[in-house]
Amino acid sequence: MSKAQLIKKPVEAEMKEFESHFSKAMDSNIPLLKHIVNYLYRQKGKQLRPVLVFLTAKLHGDVTDRTFTAASMIELLHSATLIHDDVVDESYRRRGAFSINALWRSKIAVLVGDFLLSKGLLLSVKTKSYDLLEIMSEAVREMSEGELLQIEKSRKLNITEEVYFDIIRKKTATLISSCAANGACSVNASEEDVQKMKLFGEYLGIAFQIKDDLLDYSNSSVIGKPTGNDLKEKKLTLPVIYALRESNEKLSRQMLQIIRRNNKNKRKISKVVDFVIDSGGIEYTKAKMEEYRKKAIDILNEYPSSAVRDSLSALVEYAVERKK
Ligand code: IPE
Ligand code: IPE
Ligand code: MG
Ligand code: MG
Repeated sequence: MSKAQLIKKPVEAEMKEFESHFSKAMDSNIPLLKHIVNYLYRQKGKQLRPVLVFLTAKLHGDVTDRTFTAASMIELLHSATLIHDDVVDESYRRRGAFSINALWRSKIAVLVGDFLLSKGLLLSVKTKSYDLLEIMSEAVREMSEGELLQIEKSRKLNITEEVYFDIIRKKTATLISSCAANGACSVNASEEDVQKMKLFGEYLGIAFQIKDDLLDYSNSSVIGKPTGNDLKEKKLTLPVIYALRESNEKLSRQMLQIIRRNNKNKRKISKVVDFVIDSGGIEYTKAKMEEYRKKAIDILNEYPSSAVRDSLSALVEYAVERKK
């Protein structure tokens, strides 16, 4: 069995049922929106977050309606943030296809993102799941703060490792953490277990984003979005943060100069990429990712062995091994 199959196996039925919940949750009477939502529906993505919601629910009990609400809501918010992210990053590819801003322009993408965001939040209001609503509203706030902090740092180019972790925790780990916490919460797990899952999700989310940042340094064309993009966007991630910190000042200053002034120059940026690789930035980043992978696995190992637990472990492994 492939890793992806192994991960989904215990929640196959739920994921099938999830499809109709999700498409219903995105529905609108406006023809343009209908059209775009249809497009989104076809470019699904990995749907890791709903899978995580169902698995963490099953780790603690039987899936409920609340589990479905949480899964749909989170995937709606996730889709909204990706659409907004591609506007912010001026990125024209997503999930191996054109992004919404590429096909319909930025103003439409911003509004579609807002629409999905509000649909997500409304889902919890309509079902009176106010605990869910609070967790998700917090996640939305943290994600916006994370993205803005990232923009501020890309202007000043003075990001430290500590701030990097703060950014990825906010922009990525919070939402993944709320998947795991809400999964457990939706089946009335104990407060202790909910907190455990929250931490598990945070470690998984951090490892997941570190991997995403490492993939930007890979030269494969299979990941469905452009690579080398982060430096072009002046987004300093851990590999380059480490390289700049550990190299001699003169060289670091030269590299920063390229990122500052010549960030659109392919040849010069590839010099920076070589610099990062030669300085051991990739190894260092992989070692950090490994720390978080292990912390996540350690939490899972506090649970008795089961097919669901094995799937969650496989999900963690997948997060750090994936090729896209
Ligand atoms: C992409 O998330 C954004 C990040 C947090 C790195 P995913 O890689 O889960 O996106 P899809 O949903 O599978 O496209
Ligand atoms: C991911 O940010 C989007 C959010 C977590 C909001 P990035 O800009 O780093 O991710 P990709 O590479 O576009 O998916
Ligand atoms: Mg992006
Ligand atoms: Mg971004």
